[in-house]
Amino acid sequence: VDLHVSLEGRRDLAGQIYGQVRDAILDGRLRLGQALPPSRELASRLAVSRNTVGVAYDRLAAEGYISGRVGAGTFVSARLHREPEPAEGHRSAPRPHARWDAVPDPVGLPATVAEFDFRAGVPDARLFPFQTWRRLMADELRASAVHTAAYADPAGHQRLRAAIARHVGVARAVRAADCDVLITNGTQQGLDLAARVLVGPGDPVAVEDPGYPPAVMVFRSHGARVHGVPVDAHGLVVDAIPDGVRAVYVSPSHQFPLGVAMSLDRRMALLAWARERDAVILEDDYDSEFRFAGRPIEPLHSLDRDGRVLYFGSFSKVMLPTLRLGFCIAPPSLYPALRKAKFVADWHTALPAQAALARFVDDGTLARHVRRMRSVYQARHDLISALLTTELGDWFEPVPSPAGLHLSALHRSAPSLSAPSLSASGWEDTDAIALRARANGVEVVPLARFAVDGPPRSGLVFGYGMVPVERIPEGLARLRACLTGR
Ligand SMILES: Cc1ncc(COP(=O)(O)O)c(C=O)c1O
Repeated sequence: VDLHVSLEGRRDLAGQIYGQVRDAILDGRLRLGQALPPSRELASRLAVSRNTVGVAYDRLAAEGYISGRVGAGTFVSARLHREPEPAEGHRSAPRPHARWDAVPDPVGLPATVAEFDFRAGVPDARLFPFQTWRRLMADELRASAVHTAAYADPAGHQRLRAAIARHVGVARAVRAADCDVLITNGTQQGLDLAARVLVGPGDPVAVEDPGYPPAVMVFRSHGARVHGVPVDAHGLVVDAIPDGVRAVYVSPSHQFPLGVAMSLDRRMALLAWARERDAVILEDDYDSEFRFAGRPIEPLHSLDRDGRVLYFGSFSKVMLPTLRLGFCIAPPSLYPALRKAKFVADWHTALPAQAALARFVDDGTLARHVRRMRSVYQARHDLISALLTTELGDWFEPVPSPAGLHLSALHRSAPSLSAPSLSASGWEDTDAIALRARANGVEVVPLARFAVDGPPRSGLVFGYGMVPVERIPEGLARLRACLTGR
């Protein structure tokens, strides 16, 4: 055989040949009884002395890997014990369960960070109060604070649960007691726990279309049949939820990715739907702390009178996504199972971070940070909306968006939000625009990427967590240049 051996440097050449032939035998590239190259031939191919190859072969023979027959050559040793080989056609590497085929790879970070990074959903880390957080974390890592190395309650740190119950009561009018709050590693884990508790293989689950891909991935990973339900200017179109659905995921305060707020009528219709069908609503309230306009509409959780809403909150937007801290507020009928699911998943969220967060919330730092960031993000939101109308108005129409860290703009070729999205026309253009923009140092995400079942809408999503207000005009001017070809 033409055995591949590659030598590095000039040290221990015999050892290198020995090691590579042995590996080839052990991992099955060289089979039982197969002939090795004659030592003279291998020596000349590798430009080493025949003696060097001889030393390697002698060692392999002494250890039983190979044996020689006079006049016949050297062979992989018959004496070597190997597992019987599986019959041809039955050999395959271990495979995940087929339901994982429906889950795409998580989006990785782009290889390079764009000069103008308008990706959605990322807060401005430069303005985070790192010094305070460092001090709180350091305090929690003292022996006197840690007390014990025993595992903790899966539901979460008692003081943090109480702090969150107070915080959502004041900030979001969500009525909850400490015992309703379960601490999670971000909303992502909260959704996974909910799916473990509520969803079985083949169960239908409804999500908004366009919608939040990581939520779709969670439900598919549990074998659910995911149905995209259209979103219009008032939020999820409740009448379009398919029969048989018993769980629906929504982001009513600031729909992801379109940015609309669900109207009060729709909220009431969704709650009535859930009551009639014995269904559960998963309410994702991920960034509504940054609210700029209009009177806030009460969360579904506050309007719910039947204990049908699971409310998910996250510290990824108001603090940092890398901390992986979030929570879920659950009705008593679901709470014990969710707590069990949390235990099964990872026992509990890291305790020092929970304790530090409890103090961050209690001493008012979180509220101060949110107030400060709200005005920072509002300035960015207002400027992008204005420039989209004045400078990019020939191509795009911003979707009015009262809150959060991103806004969407529909391409002029797309049907307006008050019309159902019946055609898929034009969305390929926005993909091409996003590619040209990236080459010009501007990262924007096409709306079409968030389509679930329905035809993709043509538009772009503008996140403003990572672009300071003074850099927005140049970022959008560069985008405009990609549209005009200048
Ligand atoms: C719709 C939506 N929900 C939730 C989150 C936050 O998820 P997590 O708390 O897992 O970071 C995001 C973050 O981008 C989001 O866009």
